[in-house]
Amino acid sequence: MNMKPKETDWNQLFSIIEKHKHEKWGLIPLLQDIQESFGYIPPDSIEPVAQALNMFPSQVQGVITFYAGFTLKPRGKYVIRCCRGTACHVKGSRSILRLMKKELGLEEGETSEDYQFTLETVACLGACFLAPTMMVNRDYFGKLSPTKVNSVLSQYKKSEKC
Ligand code: FES
Repeated sequence: MNMKPKETDWNQLFSIIEKHKHEKWGLIPLLQDIQESFGYIPPDSIEPVAQALNMFPSQVQGVITFYAGFTLKPRGKYVIRCCRGTACHVKGSRSILRLMKKELGLEEGETSEDYQFTLETVACLGACFLAPTMMVNRDYFGKLSPTKVNSVLSQYKKSEKC
């Protein structure tokens, strides 16, 4: 899917850098702050972050790559994670994922053009007793059925219009 890259808001970026640059272990909180504000870490922020913390850009890049929670690709306002672990697989997660793809018009790893939704799969959401499971940002939904998936997704589609 071709998406127009988001513009980086440099004022916002520099005020985040300013906030953390004197902290002793400032890199991780700084990157978390950037990701929370922008929904991802804009690749062109690596250089100024490295400069402010007296590091090499490759070191900053290395930390971003190491931590699964950081991403250099723009993501949607709502990140939908569908579990594809064994417990969920046994309880029909494959058809749940198929339904999500159809409802959102997205494949795994894709983000909608309006940056509202990102669809991801994960190895286990750590709530196997609720299989099959999904998360929307930090909220868990378990014991999914097609009806429940539709109702969860339509809840977020609605809140997007408000
Ligand atoms: S396998 Fe799905 S939550 Fe663990």
